[in-house]
Amino acid sequence: MSKKPNLAVVGATGVVGNTVLKVLEEREFPFDNLYVMASAKSAGKTISFKGKDYIIEELTEHSFDIPIDIALFSAGGETSKKYAPLAAAKGVIVVDNSSAWRMDPDVPLVVPEVNPDDVWRNKGIIANPNCSTIQAMLPIKPLHDKYRIKRIVFSTYQAVSGTGVKGIEDLKQGLAGNDLLIAYPHPIAGNCLPHIDSFLENGYTKEEMKMVNETKKILGDESIRITATAVRVPVFDSHSESINLEFEKPFELDEVRSLLSSFKGCTVADDPENNVYPLARQAAGKDDVFIGRIRRDYSVDSGLNLWVVSDNIRKGAATNAVQIAELLIK
Ligand code: A2P
Repeated sequence: MSKKPNLAVVGATGVVGNTVLKVLEEREFPFDNLYVMASAKSAGKTISFKGKDYIIEELTEHSFDIPIDIALFSAGGETSKKYAPLAAAKGVIVVDNSSAWRMDPDVPLVVPEVNPDDVWRNKGIIANPNCSTIQAMLPIKPLHDKYRIKRIVFSTYQAVSGTGVKGIEDLKQGLAGNDLLIAYPHPIAGNCLPHIDSFLENGYTKEEMKMVNETKKILGDESIRITATAVRVPVFDSHSESINLEFEKPFELDEVRSLLSSFKGCTVADDPENNVYPLARQAAGKDDVFIGRIRRDYSVDSGLNLWVVSDNIRKGAATNAVQIAELLIK
């Protein structure tokens, strides 16, 4: 793109959309015109960006009749299903945060540190992976390249901000003694809910199968055996994950540490003797993926355990989407 792009942020009033605007501002993303869109409910209200007020427009079938180059969508799966193809047909490149298009073979699924070149296979829609998948991909990529992963066991401890405004409200109210049950079927305060998104016939949740399928697509390797258990925990921001890996090749822990420390976007925080390991509250508000508790899994020949924490709204959603847009304008 030679000129500065015209940008649209769809779902600008939501938790992710709001952070997309913040990240665009922080990273000084170049643009000519910016359009902020949401549902009819928000139309006419204003959003401040770089000291200027922008009027929120209702997203309609005509929203993309004006010249827009890149649209960052964070307005839920149903909205993306309907409007992303309409935008793409008018020449817009959509970076979509929902799960609607992720497994479509014509839609690249991109983590910029891992598979940046996939963006160029786009036919108008590029998908941002699931938040839990994104943060897992950064440590997994250099280890897979070096030792070939045979099997992965994901166990997640996911923050309520991943459910949007309703999830945050359920935990806030629950901590104050009122169990709201707006976002979840059980109280989240004082509980761990082994239930994220809906249950499938195979007994897994959709969230768990997203981790399984999206990991294979991003790494371009269908042969890795993967299982996942996704749990919602009473934490406001940042997802934590236990990742157990089994490799084909032998490894040395020192080399693993150095591979992880030098991979872009990763920070190793691993000094258990001094109580140093990644924590949700420390990761919140940052863009890096934090990795600690790096240790051998002695139950198999070549196994490794990791504890991986990242801000689910930033790297897990908004920052990753803005990084994809940055690849497009390079
Ligand atoms: P609105 O605030 O006008 O309802 P969250 O996941 O944090 O709740 O945010 C969802 C985002 O998606 C909000 O910005 C919301 O706008 C937007 N949204 C939801 N439904 C639609 C729709 N049909 N058209 C456009 N934006 C939508």
